[in-house]
This record gives sequence, C-alpha cells and structure tokens, in this order.
Amino acid sequence: MLKHIHPLAAWYTPEIKDRNARILQRPKALTISNLHKTFEHKGKKINVLNSIDFTAYKREFVCVVGPSGCGKSTLARLIAGLETHEVGAIHIDDDLVDGPGPDRGMVFQSYSLFPWMTVKQNVMFGLTESGMSKNSAEAEAFQWIDLVGLEKFANAYPHQLSGGMKQRVAIIRALANQPKILLMDEPFAALDPQNRLKMQRYLLEIWQNIDITIFFITHDLDEAIYLADRILILEANPGRVQETLSVPLPRPRKEETLLSPEFFATKEYLEKLVHPPTTEVDMEDKLSMVRMVSVNSEVPDIF
Ligand SMILES: Nc1ncnc2c1ncn2[C@@H]1O[C@H](COP(=O)(O)OP(=O)(O)O)[C@@H](O)[C@H]1O
Ligand SMILES: [Mg+2]
Repeated sequence: MLKHIHPLAAWYTPEIKDRNARILQRPKALTISNLHKTFEHKGKKINVLNSIDFTAYKREFVCVVGPSGCGKSTLARLIAGLETHEVGAIHIDDDLVDGPGPDRGMVFQSYSLFPWMTVKQNVMFGLTESGMSKNSAEAEAFQWIDLVGLEKFANAYPHQLSGGMKQRVAIIRALANQPKILLMDEPFAALDPQNRLKMQRYLLEIWQNIDITIFFITHDLDEAIYLADRILILEANPGRVQETLSVPLPRPRKEETLLSPEFFATKEYLEKLVHPPTTEVDMEDKLSMVRMVSVNSEVPDIF
C-alpha cells in the first residue's frame, strides 16, 4: 500500500521534527476535551462548536485559523470562562475551567484599556486588585512598561497612544498578572501591516523571555505561520477541528522567515485548507449570476 506523504514532509528537517516532538512531551497547559457549544437564535439551536479536542503544551505558541464564523472567538471566550458550554471540558493544567480566573489573560482586537487610567495605572490595576502593595505594583508595572519600550508613556492616557502602543499595554497588562495562558483574539487585526509586523516581533520576544503558553486567534495565515509552533485549523458549520499543523520553520523566527520557501509552501498548504479552490461548478453559478444581473438591471445599454 502507498504510504500517504504529507505535502510539507520535505520541510520537516530533523531539527524541526525534534523540536516539535519535544513540545508534545511537555506538560499539558490547556486541554480541550470533546467540547460542544450551541447558541440559541430565534428559538432555534445552532451548533457552533462540535466535539473539539485539542491540547496545548507548556510554553507552546498555538495559532488558531479558520473561516469567519467557525467559532474561534467563541472558543476563546469558553477558555476564558466568559461563556458556558453544554458538553465537554476545558482544563488549564489540571484545573477545570468553570468561570474566569487569573490563570488566563486575555487580549482582544478592540483595545480593552481603561480610558480613564494612565498606562502605568492600567498595568498596575490587576496587581493591586490581587492584593499587591501600591509600591510593589508600581515597580513591577515599570518593569513591564520598560520591556515594551513605553517608559516615556507611563503617565500617558490610552487616547494619547497609537494603536500598536495600546496593544502593547494590553499585552503587558494581561501578563503582569502572571497568567499561565494568554488568550489573544485577533489582537493585531486593526493595525496597519507595518505596525502589525512590529507587534508580532514584540510578542515573539516577550514569549521567548517568559513562561507563558499563547493561544492566538487570527484570520491572517502569514501571521499564524510566522508566530506559531502549531496551527489549529478549524472549519465551519459546525465549528470543528480540521487539522493541527506543526509549522515547519526553525526558531527564532526572523523577518527573512517570511520570504523563505518553507514559509510559502506552508502558506500554500494552509490556503488550500482554509480557502478551498473554487470548483468549476461554483464558477458556473457565479457567471450565471453575472449574466442575470446584466439582463435584469435597468442600466441603459452602453454599447
Ligand atoms: N452570543 C451569541 N448568540 C448567538 N449566536 C452567536 C453568539 N456569539 C456567536 N454566535 C454565532 O456563533 C458563530 C461563531 O461565532 P464566532 O465565535 O464569533 O466566530 P469567529 O470568531 O470564528 O468568526 C457565528 O455563527 C455567530 O453568529
Ligand atoms: Mg472572531
């Protein structure tokens, strides 16, 4: 019998294979088991997530991709404990998730900073809330602010910051509480490409230097490949796991990474999974729609 060869097989060098194997031997950081989620809409039950099974390992960088509406944000909110599910379980380490908790930090696309607080106060907030003295919280906040190069903006208010700066503050504010896992839902989607790349670099640098597992949702395949150890690919209706892919790129990721042949091969592979090629039948449908529009429209004949 012919053995199935993975289309990316050639790019898994012994070093990359070895690294990927070692990640899967680490302790489990996040375990999602047989997770089902339905929403009620106008009296009808909609099955949004169907039997999701996934494990992220300690200090792993996981990216989640999938078409719009496949349940990515719902999955993040379930892990965060902001939403409840009917069937299945989510564990952080060995702890069952049954509500929000300090073991999970969250960064959303929209800036979630308190607008009436300065950068420093935003970062200090979770620390003082959890009982740290004001002086210690301030000292710790400064270290984080320093780490992302915002020393000069410690006393600025969110409205005085650029989008990228706001997201840097949102990230360090989440990390200052020392969560075990950082959940990020399209955090850079509103940034222009240059700032986006800058933020991706910042995030990789931070991740390399602290003990954190990252669960990062994006619809940008370049972003997923550049950042992730593994990519969780979801499909829609109902949202379910299509595949998990170990990214065949060495660490540390550099800007040249984005121009490497293995990067393009991975992107091509993912594109086929996430945006399957239009079939000829679909094309026919679209063409007949185009014809219908021109026949039925009341636009005067220009020929
Ligand atoms: N609170 C809600 N009530 C009803 N339906 C919802 C709710 N939140 C999300 N949905 C539906 O669940 C599906 C998945 O949504 P979402 O998780 O936001 O997808 P994604 O983030 O992948 O685009 C969508 O069809 C959406 O309309
Ligand atoms: Mg979403």
